[in-house]
Amino acid sequence: MRRKLAAGNWKMNGLTASLGELQSLASAHPDPLVDILVCPPATLVSAAAQCCATLPIAIGGQDCHAERAGAHTGDISAEMLKDSGACAAILGHSERREHHGETSDMVRAKARAAHAAGLIAVICMGESLAQRDAANTLDIIAAQLALSIPDTSTAENLVIAYEPIWAIGTGKVPTPAQIGEVHDFIRTRLERRFGPGVGRGVRILYGGSVKPDNADTIFRVPNVDGALVGGASLRAEDFSPIIHALS
Ligand code: G3H
Repeated sequence: MRRKLAAGNWKMNGLTASLGELQSLASAHPDPLVDILVCPPATLVSAAAQCCATLPIAIGGQDCHAERAGAHTGDISAEMLKDSGACAAILGHSERREHHGETSDMVRAKARAAHAAGLIAVICMGESLAQRDAANTLDIIAAQLALSIPDTSTAENLVIAYEPIWAIGTGKVPTPAQIGEVHDFIRTRLERRFGPGVGRGVRILYGGSVKPDNADTIFRVPNVDGALVGGASLRAEDFSPIIHALS
């Protein structure tokens, strides 16, 4: 039985004062039935982890370097994230693939580093609108799955987030049938590659304009084990009803 996961990606948002949102979230969910993960910017990971040490909220990073250490100005290693109190790292988000030139090979290397450091790799994938319109969605997902997921993956250290690029921050959401088709496809591919035990244990999140008013519909889709939420994770009053919908 896969435990549901509500993950928040704060992206490049949040200052020290934003940590109060974590307190508010924990107050609204003192004993949650689902896992809650919040990924603030790197500057807040340590403080957020300290703030949540006794709260039912896990903290993650939004990226990590593939190498353990070295001359990589501005980068953060998986080990550093772990040392700061993070338990997970979002990897291969489309904003990083698009704006930082990250390929699936690079994402796989980062995920391997995350696993070596003891982090859960939340690996993102999804198609552009042009790719969907050209009926290439499943081919794109198949390629991203094959290349982005390392062999070090287990049911415990891998989470996949299906995020259609055209749905991120746009208010546009795929139909339940469209979400279901991709999630079922990912599940089948995972089972084929890793066997039924791991393949059925990995959680598959949906991401892209998840809001309080559409969460319930999305969470009814089979093989949707939770959500990776961007904008609506920034304030507890928005993220909380999404967590409730998943519970
Ligand atoms: O990582 C989160 C996704 O990019 C979704 O962002 O909920 O603001 O559309 P959004």
